[in-house]
This record gives sequence, structure tokens and C-alpha cells, in this order.
Amino acid sequence: MRYDSITDAIGNTPLLRIDPAVHGLAHVDLYAKLELLNPFGSVKDRAAWTMAAPRLAEARATGATVVELSSGNTAKALAVIAGMYGLPFTSITNRMKVPEVKDLLLLLGATIEELPGQAECLDPTNTEDPLTRIHRTISESGSAYLHTDQYYNPRNTQAHLDGTGPEIVKDLDGRVPDYFVACVGTAGSSTGVARVLREHDPAVTVVGLVAAKSDFIPGIRNIDEVHEVGLFDPDTYDTIESVSADEAIDGLLALNRRCGVLAGPTGGGAYTGAVRYLRRVDAELAAEAAAGGEPRRRSAVFIVCDRVESYLSYLRRRRPELLHQPARAGAVSTVTAAEADAARTVDVPAAREWITEAQPLVVDLRGTFAYSTAHIEGSVNIVDELFDELLRGGLPFDTGRPVLLACPVGEKSRRYAALLTRMGHTDARSLDGGVVAWRDAGAPLVRT
Ligand SMILES: Cc1ncc(COP(=O)(O)O)c(C=O)c1O
Repeated sequence: MRYDSITDAIGNTPLLRIDPAVHGLAHVDLYAKLELLNPFGSVKDRAAWTMAAPRLAEARATGATVVELSSGNTAKALAVIAGMYGLPFTSITNRMKVPEVKDLLLLLGATIEELPGQAECLDPTNTEDPLTRIHRTISESGSAYLHTDQYYNPRNTQAHLDGTGPEIVKDLDGRVPDYFVACVGTAGSSTGVARVLREHDPAVTVVGLVAAKSDFIPGIRNIDEVHEVGLFDPDTYDTIESVSADEAIDGLLALNRRCGVLAGPTGGGAYTGAVRYLRRVDAELAAEAAAGGEPRRRSAVFIVCDRVESYLSYLRRRRPELLHQPARAGAVSTVTAAEADAARTVDVPAAREWITEAQPLVVDLRGTFAYSTAHIEGSVNIVDELFDELLRGGLPFDTGRPVLLACPVGEKSRRYAALLTRMGHTDARSLDGGVVAWRDAGAPLVRT
């Protein structure tokens, strides 16, 4: 294979049949679409190139800056592409949660504009969100920017209508898989592939996967965020299921260790989500066979979006034992769902009374921008990642000092309340419904 440009190597990724001894399905052939083998390392190479390519010549003529709201793979691909064309690239993002990706972007020559904010994804319904304000500004400002606009740009989907979808059909000798399973970030890849497969055979079942509630799997949305923005259309999916970060890591280990596929967490999540869904299919087919029928073999495809190497600190934090480090009792990622359910919570009226009577230390876990805009009077701002770090070193407060924890909607704070309780704190409570409920109840907020 000879190329004149590395961008010619984007796409045409292998479709790998997963060994049935690994997945254990008797009646289903499971294939992985190996998007991690794209030249810059992910499925987003296709979208980045398809969105940027038609505009690069003009951008070079006008000296435009390539800009994208991304903290991950799209930014990585665009940083490389912009560099190749002699253009500056700026990645605008809320918080960079994966340090390796940030370092790689800097190495590739990108400028990172890190904004304090609440969510990793753009939320256009929130006019206060700085990401949304910036999105509006760069969309309106003419030729100074080549804004690829991955959350809204139909060329993001087009990359998969032209490439990923047809490649899957071709590699299955013109057949459409019975099931297609993909994690949902901007929804570009799942939407494009699903459309191609349905055009060939409307009977295909499309399973979208998102991260479990208040869980973090880098690169994809969680169930609360998925309806918010962009190219997402619920009609694309026959069903949407969630996977936990733990399931994603289990899948990553199966692919890394048993299949030789060095997948990152979303590839692992797609594998686990696919196998979990297909076990139900397999059981029905087994019952049909047991009743004397001859069930047709089914086929399924899932996408392995990117590579494991960028997520070592994510893995160290969540599963230290994998990297031969002792598990730490003070890590919020170790809080179980049962512990979180058992955490003490207070609703807004009770919290207001408690603040007056017991004067608890109120810890606001939101980003600094959200805090400075509106917070409970007297509260201190310790952004959740920082609080997580702090607790890894031990309890930062006297065990008897009442503490009220507040986050946007009361989910993260609940996990921290559970963690403080586990660590021996006697009165840590979570504000039910978070600062949003406090605001909605008309309780007073102050700004810095
Ligand atoms: C690691 C990873 N997995 C999955 C996805 C989802 O892809 P899409 O944006 O096409 O929905 C992304 C998107 O950025 C990603 O970075």
C-alpha cells in the first residue's frame, strides 16, 4: 500500500471476527470494526478529515485558525491535519479530564482554551454555558476561523455514510449485520452507519450505548446528556442502553488481553454492551434450537473507537490494581451504587434550616465559572476532581464537622457524601437536587 498523504490512510479499517471462545455466544458471529487503526488513532479521523478537507485551501489563503469544541479524538485529528496544512489549531473545551490527551494536543502544536464550566459536552439550551457562548461567537465570525462544528456539521455523519457503513457491508460480502452496536458521542458515527445499513436492510437492529448516569467514560455522553445536542436523533436507535465505566473497563480488558485489540474504554464499552445485548438474542435462539427449530445464525458489528494508551491515568484512577498499585479507600470511583443510595441527603427546605441551625461547611463541587455565577452564601468551591484528589490523601475535615455537599443536580455530591461517611465522617449530607433544585426553589444565591 503506497500513499502520498497520511490522510489517504484514513478509513478502510479491518472488520475483525471476535473469537467465540471470548464472547461465548453460540448463535451469533460478532465483528469489531477496528477504528482504532485509523492513522491518528480513532474513528474521529474520518469526521475530522471530511469536515475540514473542503475548507483547508480557503483557510490557508485567509490564514484562518482551525477551531473545534473537543477535548479528545476530534481535536487530536484536527491538530494533526491543521499542522500538515500550516494552520494553527485551537481546541476549546471545558475541563480536560484525560491528561494524556491534553499533553498529546500540546505536543501536536495545538492551543488549548480550557473553560471552567459544568458539562464536558456543549449544551445549547444553557445560554450561560461559556462553551455555548464561544460556539455562537466562532460560528458568527466569518473567515477568521475554520470551525469544523462537529456537534452540528452534517459532514460528521457524511464521513460514515461514505466510509464506515459501506465498508461494513462490503466486508460482510454484501450482507447487512442483524445488529449494529455503537457508543454515542456526537452521534455522527452511529447515525451514518445506521443509515447505510437500514438502506440495505430496514430489519437491522441498532443499539446505541451511553455511559451510565453520572458515570464518566471519556468520549461519549451519559444518559442525561445524550438528548441535549447535535446530530443525535432518537429515531436512529432501536434501543439505547447504558454501560458503566466498570463494564467498559472489563470490555477493554477482554479486547486488549484476549483479542489483541488495544481498544480504549469506549471500545470496551461497545464490546460489553454488544455481548450483554446479544446474550439475550442468543438465549432466544438456543430455546428455538432446543424446541427442534433450526435458527438462522445472526451477525453483529460493534465499533472500537480508539486506543487504550491515552487512558492509563483513567485506568489507574479507577482500577489501580491493574497497574499493580494498591486500591485507595479515598477514591470516589470506588463508591458503589448501594453506598451512594444509602448516603444522607437533605432537600432544599431542610438544608436551609440545617444551615441556619448547625452551620455546616457547605462545599460546592461545581466548576469555578458556575460557582462564581451563582452559589450558596458562605459555601466554599472545591471542584470535584480536586476534592477527589484531596480525599485520596485522607479526610480533610474534622470527622464531627457537619458538611453539606452541593453539585449541579445532587448526584456527584451523593457519591462524595457516601465516601466521606465510609471514611469515618459522622455527618456528611448531599443537597438533594443540587444547586439546580436550590435555584428552582427560589432559595437565595450570591455571585462572586
Ligand atoms: C473515544 C470515543 N468513543 C466514541 C466516540 C463517539 O463517536 P461519535 O462522536 O461519532 O458519536 C467518540 C467521539 O468523540 C470518542 O472520542
